[in-house]
Amino acid sequence: MPDIKLPTSTDQTTESPSDNGKNIIKKKVPKIHFDLPPQIQNQHQSLNNARANKQITRNDNMLFPGFDSPQVIRSLNSPSPSSVGNREKVRLAPHHSALDWEKFKHENNVKMIDPSSFPLRITKGELSKHTHPKDCWVALGGKIYNISSYLDFHPGGVNILVKFAGKDCTSIFMKYHRWVNFERILDECFIGFLV
Ligand code: HEM
Repeated sequence: MPDIKLPTSTDQTTESPSDNGKNIIKKKVPKIHFDLPPQIQNQHQSLNNARANKQITRNDNMLFPGFDSPQVIRSLNSPSPSSVGNREKVRLAPHHSALDWEKFKHENNVKMIDPSSFPLRITKGELSKHTHPKDCWVALGGKIYNISSYLDFHPGGVNILVKFAGKDCTSIFMKYHRWVNFERILDECFIGFLV
Protein backbone atom coordinates (compact mmCIF):
# COMPACT_ATOMS: atom_id res chain seq x y z
CA MET A 1 0.00 0.00 0.00
CA PRO A 2 1.41 3.43 -0.92
CA ASP A 3 1.92 5.74 2.01
CA ILE A 4 -0.76 8.40 1.39
CA LYS A 5 -1.14 10.98 4.12
CA LEU A 6 -4.56 12.25 4.98
CA PRO A 7 -5.49 15.64 3.49
CA THR A 8 -4.92 18.70 5.63
CA SER A 9 -6.91 21.86 5.22
CA THR A 10 -4.86 25.10 5.23
CA ASP A 11 -5.83 28.73 5.70
CA GLN A 12 -5.37 29.38 1.98
CA THR A 13 -8.49 29.75 -0.09
CA THR A 14 -9.15 29.46 -3.80
CA GLU A 15 -12.02 30.53 -6.05
CA SER A 16 -14.40 28.02 -7.60
CA PRO A 17 -14.67 28.02 -11.46
CA SER A 18 -16.92 30.66 -12.99
CA ASP A 19 -19.58 29.96 -15.65
CA ASN A 20 -17.97 31.86 -18.56
CA GLY A 21 -18.43 35.30 -17.08
CA LYS A 22 -22.21 35.04 -16.72
CA ASN A 23 -23.76 35.04 -13.25
CA ILE A 24 -20.39 34.52 -11.64
CA ILE A 25 -20.69 32.90 -8.27
CA LYS A 26 -17.46 33.15 -6.36
CA LYS A 27 -17.27 30.84 -3.42
CA LYS A 28 -14.35 30.62 -1.09
CA VAL A 29 -13.42 27.01 -0.67
CA PRO A 30 -10.65 25.70 1.56
CA LYS A 31 -7.56 24.58 -0.31
CA ILE A 32 -6.78 20.99 0.58
CA HIS A 33 -3.22 19.76 0.60
CA PHE A 34 -2.32 16.11 -0.10
CA ASP A 35 1.06 14.52 0.55
CA LEU A 36 1.30 12.02 -2.30
CA PRO A 37 3.88 9.27 -2.80
CA PRO A 38 6.79 10.44 -5.07
CA GLN A 39 5.69 8.21 -7.99
CA ILE A 40 2.26 9.86 -8.10
CA GLN A 41 3.76 13.31 -7.52
CA ASN A 42 5.91 12.79 -10.64
CA GLN A 43 2.84 11.81 -12.64
CA HIS A 44 1.05 15.00 -11.54
CA GLN A 45 4.13 17.04 -12.35
CA SER A 46 4.26 15.65 -15.90
CA LEU A 47 0.54 16.38 -16.32
CA ASN A 48 1.02 19.95 -15.13
CA ASN A 49 3.94 20.37 -17.55
CA ALA A 50 1.86 18.95 -20.39
CA ARG A 51 -0.92 21.39 -19.57
CA ALA A 52 1.55 24.32 -19.39
CA ASN A 53 2.99 23.33 -22.80
CA LYS A 54 -0.54 23.06 -24.20
CA GLN A 55 0.01 19.34 -24.97
CA ILE A 56 -3.36 18.82 -23.35
CA THR A 57 -6.09 21.39 -23.13
CA ARG A 58 -9.23 21.18 -21.13
CA ASN A 59 -12.34 23.21 -21.30
CA ASP A 60 -14.12 23.92 -18.02
CA ASN A 61 -17.42 22.56 -19.35
CA MET A 62 -15.77 19.24 -20.10
CA LEU A 63 -16.56 16.73 -17.40
CA PHE A 64 -14.87 13.71 -18.98
CA PRO A 65 -12.09 12.76 -19.11
CA GLY A 66 -10.97 14.51 -15.94
CA PHE A 67 -7.69 16.40 -16.12
CA ASP A 68 -5.73 13.70 -14.32
CA SER A 69 -7.88 10.72 -15.27
CA PRO A 70 -6.25 7.44 -16.40
CA GLN A 71 -7.36 8.14 -19.99
CA VAL A 72 -5.29 11.35 -20.09
CA ILE A 73 -2.32 9.75 -18.35
CA ARG A 74 -2.47 6.77 -20.72
CA SER A 75 -2.59 8.92 -23.84
CA LEU A 76 0.35 11.03 -22.62
CA ASN A 77 2.43 7.91 -22.01
CA SER A 78 1.48 6.27 -25.32
CA PRO A 79 3.67 6.75 -28.40
CA SER A 80 0.69 8.04 -30.37
CA PRO A 81 -2.84 9.06 -29.36
CA SER A 82 -4.33 6.16 -31.28
CA SER A 83 -2.36 3.42 -29.58
CA VAL A 84 -2.74 1.47 -26.37
CA GLY A 85 0.66 0.35 -25.08
CA ASN A 86 2.36 -0.96 -28.19
CA ARG A 87 -0.89 -1.98 -29.87
CA GLU A 88 -2.71 0.20 -32.40
CA LYS A 89 -6.29 0.96 -31.43
CA VAL A 90 -8.70 -0.25 -34.08
CA ARG A 91 -10.97 2.31 -35.69
CA LEU A 92 -14.27 0.66 -36.52
CA ALA A 93 -16.18 1.66 -39.64
CA PRO A 94 -19.12 4.04 -39.12
CA HIS A 95 -22.27 2.30 -37.86
CA HIS A 96 -20.26 -0.57 -36.35
CA SER A 97 -20.63 0.23 -32.66
CA ALA A 98 -21.77 -2.29 -30.04
CA LEU A 99 -25.27 -0.81 -30.31
CA ASP A 100 -25.26 -1.17 -34.09
CA TRP A 101 -24.30 -4.82 -33.63
CA GLU A 102 -27.22 -5.38 -31.25
CA LYS A 103 -29.58 -4.10 -33.93
CA PHE A 104 -27.85 -5.84 -36.82
CA LYS A 105 -27.80 -9.30 -35.27
CA HIS A 106 -31.55 -9.26 -34.65
CA GLU A 107 -32.39 -7.99 -38.10
CA ASN A 108 -30.22 -10.40 -40.09
CA ASN A 109 -29.72 -14.13 -40.31
CA VAL A 110 -26.29 -14.18 -38.68
CA LYS A 111 -26.30 -17.94 -38.01
CA MET A 112 -26.27 -18.67 -41.76
CA ILE A 113 -27.21 -22.33 -41.28
CA ASP A 114 -30.27 -24.38 -42.12
CA PRO A 115 -32.64 -23.70 -39.17
CA SER A 116 -33.86 -27.30 -39.19
CA SER A 117 -30.36 -28.55 -38.28
CA PHE A 118 -29.97 -26.18 -35.33
CA PRO A 119 -28.22 -26.81 -32.94
CA LEU A 120 -25.40 -28.52 -34.81
CA ARG A 121 -22.98 -31.01 -33.26
CA ILE A 122 -19.61 -29.98 -34.65
CA THR A 123 -16.29 -31.81 -34.49
CA LYS A 124 -12.90 -30.05 -34.51
CA GLY A 125 -12.40 -31.38 -38.04
CA GLU A 126 -15.64 -29.79 -39.26
CA LEU A 127 -14.86 -26.55 -37.43
CA SER A 128 -11.49 -26.29 -39.15
CA LYS A 129 -13.21 -26.09 -42.57
CA HIS A 130 -14.86 -22.76 -41.78
CA THR A 131 -12.02 -20.29 -42.02
CA HIS A 132 -13.17 -17.86 -44.68
CA PRO A 133 -14.32 -14.41 -43.44
CA LYS A 134 -17.67 -15.07 -45.11
CA ASP A 135 -17.91 -18.48 -43.45
CA CYS A 136 -16.06 -17.98 -40.19
CA TRP A 137 -16.74 -20.31 -37.29
CA VAL A 138 -15.02 -20.34 -33.91
CA ALA A 139 -15.36 -22.42 -30.75
CA LEU A 140 -15.71 -20.53 -27.50
CA GLY A 141 -16.46 -22.20 -24.19
CA GLY A 142 -17.55 -25.45 -25.87
CA LYS A 143 -20.00 -23.67 -28.19
CA ILE A 144 -19.61 -22.89 -31.88
CA TYR A 145 -20.40 -19.46 -33.25
CA ASN A 146 -20.59 -18.24 -36.81
CA ILE A 147 -18.84 -14.89 -36.36
CA SER A 148 -18.76 -13.86 -40.05
CA SER A 149 -21.23 -11.03 -39.44
CA TYR A 150 -19.54 -9.95 -36.21
CA LEU A 151 -16.03 -9.55 -37.68
CA ASP A 152 -16.48 -5.90 -38.71
CA PHE A 153 -18.01 -5.05 -35.33
CA HIS A 154 -15.19 -6.52 -33.23
CA PRO A 155 -13.52 -3.69 -31.24
CA GLY A 156 -10.17 -5.50 -31.52
CA GLY A 157 -10.44 -5.58 -35.32
CA VAL A 158 -11.07 -8.17 -38.02
CA ASN A 159 -7.47 -9.30 -38.57
CA ILE A 160 -6.83 -10.58 -35.08
CA LEU A 161 -10.12 -12.47 -35.12
CA VAL A 162 -9.78 -14.21 -38.50
CA LYS A 163 -6.49 -15.73 -37.33
CA PHE A 164 -8.64 -17.90 -35.08
CA ALA A 165 -11.20 -18.82 -37.71
CA GLY A 166 -11.92 -22.54 -37.59
CA LYS A 167 -10.28 -22.87 -34.18
CA ASP A 168 -11.07 -22.96 -30.49
CA CYS A 169 -10.28 -19.40 -29.36
CA THR A 170 -11.37 -19.80 -25.72
CA SER A 171 -7.95 -19.36 -24.13
CA ILE A 172 -6.85 -16.40 -26.29
CA PHE A 173 -10.26 -14.80 -25.74
CA MET A 174 -9.80 -15.11 -21.97
CA LYS A 175 -6.28 -13.74 -22.26
CA TYR A 176 -7.45 -10.55 -24.00
CA HIS A 177 -10.76 -9.87 -22.32
CA ARG A 178 -12.20 -12.37 -19.90
CA TRP A 179 -14.71 -9.71 -18.77
CA VAL A 180 -16.42 -9.68 -22.18
CA ASN A 181 -19.77 -11.52 -22.14
CA PHE A 182 -19.42 -13.39 -25.44
CA GLU A 183 -22.53 -15.49 -24.83
CA ARG A 184 -24.62 -12.35 -24.83
CA ILE A 185 -22.83 -10.54 -27.67
CA LEU A 186 -22.84 -13.62 -29.90
CA ASP A 187 -26.19 -15.11 -28.83
CA GLU A 188 -27.61 -14.87 -32.35
CA CYS A 189 -24.40 -16.34 -33.84
CA PHE A 190 -24.62 -19.54 -31.79
CA ILE A 191 -24.94 -22.50 -34.15
CA GLY A 192 -24.11 -25.57 -32.05
CA PHE A 193 -21.81 -27.48 -29.76
CA LEU A 194 -18.24 -28.66 -30.11
CA VAL A 195 -18.28 -32.46 -29.76
C1 HEM B 1 -15.13 -14.27 -30.98
C2 HEM B 1 -15.51 -13.65 -29.94
C3 HEM B 1 -15.04 -12.30 -29.51
C4 HEM B 1 -15.84 -11.32 -29.05
C5 HEM B 1 -17.35 -11.40 -28.89
C6 HEM B 1 -15.01 -10.20 -28.73
C7 HEM B 1 -15.44 -9.01 -28.22
C8 HEM B 1 -14.66 -7.95 -27.88
C9 HEM B 1 -15.12 -6.78 -27.20
C10 HEM B 1 -16.54 -6.51 -26.74
C11 HEM B 1 -14.05 -5.98 -27.04
C12 HEM B 1 -14.02 -4.62 -26.32
C13 HEM B 1 -13.56 -4.93 -24.92
C14 HEM B 1 -13.48 -3.73 -24.04
O1 HEM B 1 -13.46 -2.61 -24.53
O2 HEM B 1 -13.39 -3.95 -22.81
C15 HEM B 1 -12.92 -6.61 -27.65
C16 HEM B 1 -11.66 -6.09 -27.72
C17 HEM B 1 -10.58 -6.76 -28.16
N1 HEM B 1 -10.54 -8.05 -28.62
FE1 HEM B 1 -12.10 -9.28 -28.81
N2 HEM B 1 -13.70 -10.52 -29.00
C18 HEM B 1 -13.68 -11.80 -29.46
C19 HEM B 1 -12.56 -12.53 -29.81
C20 HEM B 1 -11.28 -12.06 -29.75
C21 HEM B 1 -10.11 -12.84 -30.04
C22 HEM B 1 -10.12 -14.30 -30.42
C23 HEM B 1 -9.06 -11.99 -29.90
C24 HEM B 1 -7.61 -12.25 -30.03
C25 HEM B 1 -7.09 -13.15 -30.71
C26 HEM B 1 -9.56 -10.69 -29.54
C27 HEM B 1 -8.80 -9.57 -29.35
C28 HEM B 1 -9.25 -8.36 -28.93
C29 HEM B 1 -8.41 -7.22 -28.68
C30 HEM B 1 -6.93 -7.12 -28.92
C31 HEM B 1 -9.25 -6.23 -28.20
C32 HEM B 1 -8.79 -4.89 -27.68
C33 HEM B 1 -9.23 -3.71 -28.36
C34 HEM B 1 -8.71 -2.46 -27.65
O3 HEM B 1 -8.34 -2.48 -26.47
O4 HEM B 1 -8.70 -1.49 -28.32
N3 HEM B 1 -10.91 -10.77 -29.45
N4 HEM B 1 -13.31 -7.84 -28.15
